[in-house]
Amino acid sequence: MANLNENFLKLKKNYLFVEIGQRVKAYAAANPDKNIIRMGIGDVTLPLPAAVVAAFEKAVREQGVKETFRGYEDSGLGYDFLRDRVSDYYKAFGVSVDSSEVLISDGAKSDCGNFGDIFSPDNTVLVSDPVYPVYVDSNIMGGRTIITADSNRENGFRALPNNDIHADIIYLCSPNNPTGSVYTKDELKLWVDYANNRKSVIVFDAAYEAFISEPDLPRSIFQIDGARTCAVEICSLSKTAGFTGTRCGYTVIPKELNLYTSSNEAVNLGDTWRRRQGSKFNGVSYPVQRAAEAVFSDEGQAEVKANLDYYKTNAKIITDTLDELNVSYTGGKNSPYIWFTSKRFPDSWALFDKLLNDVSVVGTPGSGFGKNGEGWFRLTAFSTNEKTAEAMKRIRETIQL
Ligand code: MLT
Repeated sequence: MANLNENFLKLKKNYLFVEIGQRVKAYAAANPDKNIIRMGIGDVTLPLPAAVVAAFEKAVREQGVKETFRGYEDSGLGYDFLRDRVSDYYKAFGVSVDSSEVLISDGAKSDCGNFGDIFSPDNTVLVSDPVYPVYVDSNIMGGRTIITADSNRENGFRALPNNDIHADIIYLCSPNNPTGSVYTKDELKLWVDYANNRKSVIVFDAAYEAFISEPDLPRSIFQIDGARTCAVEICSLSKTAGFTGTRCGYTVIPKELNLYTSSNEAVNLGDTWRRRQGSKFNGVSYPVQRAAEAVFSDEGQAEVKANLDYYKTNAKIITDTLDELNVSYTGGKNSPYIWFTSKRFPDSWALFDKLLNDVSVVGTPGSGFGKNGEGWFRLTAFSTNEKTAEAMKRIRETIQL
């Protein structure tokens, strides 16, 4: 008899965005005439940059020619041409990352979700609440104890470490999904010290780093002294270069980072992760890696900047409306997420239903990200300029927040 991993019984019935998708599908079926504006899941609307498409097409053609065809990539960890580009990209933040420390993935979600494989099931995991559900779900599946650090209006949705509470693995996301808050360098230093003092590991999700506008805010945890001995950083091309449907990201694992056996012997974390990937992952396709390489070209970076400016215009449309309505929010300035609270709708799912039913606007209820999300609501800046303006017009005219 095949027995169930009963940790799966501890998960919520549906993944948050599946639940939202089902509700929106039912609404669309019942209201075929409604023009639904989707600002729920953080999926982008701008297409791949032209430089990326050209590189992608060229690589696909190479795959159709005997002389240039490529099968398995030897390492499964990424071609040097892409790893070198990522390493160069880090130089702009004053961070030195060796190409061999860059591991190419099919996106941040896979690496965030799979990283638990290399940690002991006995480890305690700390996440902030509210939180991107992938960190929680994947550790529930792995049977680990999960504790939460309250992230709330009082601390600006930037939970800080409590030295009296022990955690072995810490998930941090900055700019934060869902709240849009960003840790300062001093605040991240507190987390780095906390982790180093305990030989703990920080899994740092930097998927939204490119949205940071304020130059003093850290775009990488490796800008913080001491991070190389306690942190891995997970990044994505999804939101910057439109790779949500193309799939490519990268994870940086410093050479000096270790895990420990129960007898306190150090085992290299990067080697352990490579061993895991060797058995479970055959790498990202050659054309996708060539497309990703083009993201880091001068032309690609100029197009990415234009995309970011476009989404930042949406964020401004949203925050201007919330200012006008005297509604409290975080995010929007250094992040594609705007996280607001409504006095009249203390129940996040009630506001979700109200916005969907009354103005056909889809957002994400804050309570889907944890108990501290109750009473809060997330909108994304990833729609089109026109639809974002239309959504805010409908909200302004119809809903008393
Ligand atoms: C979100 O909406 O929170 C994210 O887009 C989901 C994801 O990237 O996996």
